[in-house]
Amino acid sequence: MDLLTVDHNKCIKCGLCVEACPSCILNMGTDGPECNFDRGCMSCGHCVAICPVGALDNKYTPLAEQLPVPTNLPSQEDIYNWMRARRSIRLFKKETPKEADVVKLLDICRYAPTAGNSQGMYYLVLTDPNKIKAIADAVADWMELEVAAGSNNKRYFTVVLKAYRERKQDIIARNAPMLIFATVRRLNVTGVSNAEQCFAYADLFAPTIGLGTTIAGFIQSCAIAGYQPLLDLLNVPDKHKVVGTLMVGYPKAKYQRMPERQHLKYEYID
Ligand SMILES: Cc1cc2nc3c(=O)[nH]c(=O)nc-3n(C[C@H](O)[C@H](O)[C@H](O)COP(=O)(O)O)c2cc1C
Repeated sequence: MDLLTVDHNKCIKCGLCVEACPSCILNMGTDGPECNFDRGCMSCGHCVAICPVGALDNKYTPLAEQLPVPTNLPSQEDIYNWMRARRSIRLFKKETPKEADVVKLLDICRYAPTAGNSQGMYYLVLTDPNKIKAIADAVADWMELEVAAGSNNKRYFTVVLKAYRERKQDIIARNAPMLIFATVRRLNVTGVSNAEQCFAYADLFAPTIGLGTTIAGFIQSCAIAGYQPLLDLLNVPDKHKVVGTLMVGYPKAKYQRMPERQHLKYEYID
């Protein structure tokens, strides 16, 4: 089966599919769009999604599986406020998030952008409090080694270690009832950037299902650095590597206000 099927009765040869193709593998022939290198298709579905008359099909992203974009989306003001009201959640109820909610949280991450539409994220979900404590302990051990080695994070890690070791405050895992590790195949060089995008989706979506999330930066840095005692706790599948970590739980409190940020800084460069 060819990559593209064009309904020539419908096609108006507007060329939008050709212009939108991220791989530039389409061109406009006399009868409509044609593919000049079908192995270059990254299965993003844009050519089908953008066609104003539904004339185009792609064997990897069938027209029949593409939902129409809803017309009743929230207003710009609602979305602006939603995004501003998002908070990193560090106060969690003890309750383990329900699997149905976790599935919804991770499912929306499938729609985040990934380099070359590589997707391929595989999540490890941890809920055992003893395992989470062991993970935080391993991260603290790693930080001590980093401090001793004179790492660039020496001063910051020293502050973190004081809280974790001396004051017994869980600054590393925030007593979260759940940690989610994003993993990708080892050869995927854009995995960390992809995971950031996926978890940004999770952060923004979580409140719609009553969840709160925060990037577990210390834990993910330790895992990405390849600290073996931490990796030994995770059972990462063979050929996979950790590219991100998220704390997840039901928030214990509700934020009432939206803090201000640094001023926007920008300039046009000619
Ligand atoms: C890469 C990254 C790592 C982060 N790591 C942590 C972390 O380990 N612990 C934590 O409590 N918050 C962490 N955060 C959350 C930031 O502290 C938070 O985004 C920032 O303070 C602004 O607050 P807000 O997200 O509620 O707007 C991280 C955020 C990012 C983007």
